[in-house]
Amino acid sequence: MKSVEIKNLNIGFNTESGFRQALFDVSFNLYKGCMSALVGESGCGKTLSAMSILNLLPKSAVVKSGEVIFQSKNILIQSSKELQKIRGEKIALIPQDPMTSLNPLYTIGNQLLEVIKIHQNLEGEEAYKKALDALNAVQIPAAKERMNSYPHEFSGGMKQRAIIAMALSCNAEVLIADEPTTALDVTIQAQIMNLLKEIKKERQTSILLITHDLGLVRDNADIVSVMYSGRIVENAPVDEFFKKTSHPYSIALLDSLPNNRNRKLDTIKGQPPTIHETIAGCRFHPRCKKCMDICTKKIPSQFSVGKEHFSACFLNG
Ligand SMILES: Nc1ncnc2c1ncn2[C@@H]1O[C@H](COP(=O)(O)OP(=O)(O)O)[C@@H](O)[C@H]1O
Ligand SMILES: [Mg+2]
Repeated sequence: MKSVEIKNLNIGFNTESGFRQALFDVSFNLYKGCMSALVGESGCGKTLSAMSILNLLPKSAVVKSGEVIFQSKNILIQSSKELQKIRGEKIALIPQDPMTSLNPLYTIGNQLLEVIKIHQNLEGEEAYKKALDALNAVQIPAAKERMNSYPHEFSGGMKQRAIIAMALSCNAEVLIADEPTTALDVTIQAQIMNLLKEIKKERQTSILLITHDLGLVRDNADIVSVMYSGRIVENAPVDEFFKKTSHPYSIALLDSLPNNRNRKLDTIKGQPPTIHETIAGCRFHPRCKKCMDICTKKIPSQFSVGKEHFSACFLNG
């Protein structure tokens, strides 16, 4: 069942050199009990897409058009009062850098209790028990003692768990995880991902996983959208995507995975464009090995290439 519909987002920035578009017609859905992944190189628009779901865009951002439909309402035009109710309570964010959302001056327990007080309207014993439950749910050992710890006493992985505990304490229906494990080592990364999968299954949470790592997508997500330079270029259920990877950019991303046996070094030549570069046709064409004449002139639409599988490439047109 669909929980959030992101529809045709066109978002850009007013810069010194004029308006520069960063997202082009971005559309994807989140579903109950499903982990959707948004994957692409740095700067392709993942965080902007995520932040539009919370209506937490930078001040200089301009929404030209598009909608984010949650519970039949467009989040992009809600009042700040409505948004306050949605953020945290219904849709929670696990940010890339855990330190930015933990206050160094308060214990983990106090911060958790605060969240529970606001979002579950509980106090005293009851709130304390909920906080302990949340720490246990994210498998923080010796949770009782840890309630009294300060963020700096936690390792990176433990801080990320504490943030997830806070997100859980809001009983959010939608969890947005923006590169939640990028700063963590591989073992801790796997533990955090397992935790997210458990939450998804047990609470039927809709999860948006944002990452630049297709390996993480293969092992954890159910649906994937590949982004390049502000556009979704391929979209499919994860099994289907890895069986029949279609877009030349997705194939290049896959080829550059460290554990890929066919790995060719330097598979994607050059850099993704910045929002200041105007590129006619497909924005990937200057880096594409399969570039055809039409690709330099026209923008490819999403062509169906399989079951619930779309690719924005003229090779499929
Ligand atoms: N506040 C801002 N002002 C101007 N440009 C921005 C701002 N925030 C992001 N951008 C630009 O928008 C594009 C997408 O950024 P972002 O969504 O953060 O990418 P990602 O999360 O995929 O790395 C980038 O080219 C970035 O430079
Ligand atoms: Mg980002």
